[in-house]
Amino acid sequence: MVVSLVATAFWAMLPAYVPNNAAVLAGGGRPIDGGRTWGGRRVLGDGKTWRGTAAGTLAGTLLAVALNAVGPAVSGALGVSLPTFPLAAGFGLALGAMLGDIGASFLKRRSGRERGAAFPGLDQLDFVVGALVLALVAAPGWFSATFTLPVLAVVLVMTPVLHVVTNVGAYLLGLKNEPW
Ligand code: CTP
Ligand code: MG
Repeated sequence: MVVSLVATAFWAMLPAYVPNNAAVLAGGGRPIDGGRTWGGRRVLGDGKTWRGTAAGTLAGTLLAVALNAVGPAVSGALGVSLPTFPLAAGFGLALGAMLGDIGASFLKRRSGRERGAAFPGLDQLDFVVGALVLALVAAPGWFSATFTLPVLAVVLVMTPVLHVVTNVGAYLLGLKNEPW
């Protein structure tokens, strides 16, 4: 029961977990805000680029397609019926994760935090909220069948933990400038 819930929550959120990491690897180039400021501060900052956002969205969407291919084998091995992703769901999770992260940068700049500053709580959940909201909009039937209340509860507890672990890992590997 618990294994099934955790496996389902993790699997369903994988297309939302990967985009931010892909953006870190692929980021660079023109910032989305084009250098514009608002109230004397950057709208988003140099950390939110077109290339990183596109790469992250593509990576998450392609991962959903790949998960569909291996899903039956993994489901069989675990004895858990893992969800499959309609294209709209995979795309919604991936783009939503990126938009949530961009929204968080917007809020960070408005509250005077420079690029790379930590915003505990927001940093760990911004992309989850974005991913869930966009998946709900893009694939409502799939969303309600997949994200039952127990699965949602596991997602909200598990994601911040995974986020901290992967970011500290990326920092130690020298891929990220800050461990958050
Ligand atoms: N990145 C990107 N485009 C995005 C998100 C991330 O190019 N939409 C890249 C940038 O190179 C960024 C790095 O991934 O510096 C790390 O992402 P993140 O921690 O989200 O950005 P920060 O640089 O910390 O900036 P912010 O304070 O705005 O979060
Ligand atoms: Mg950051």
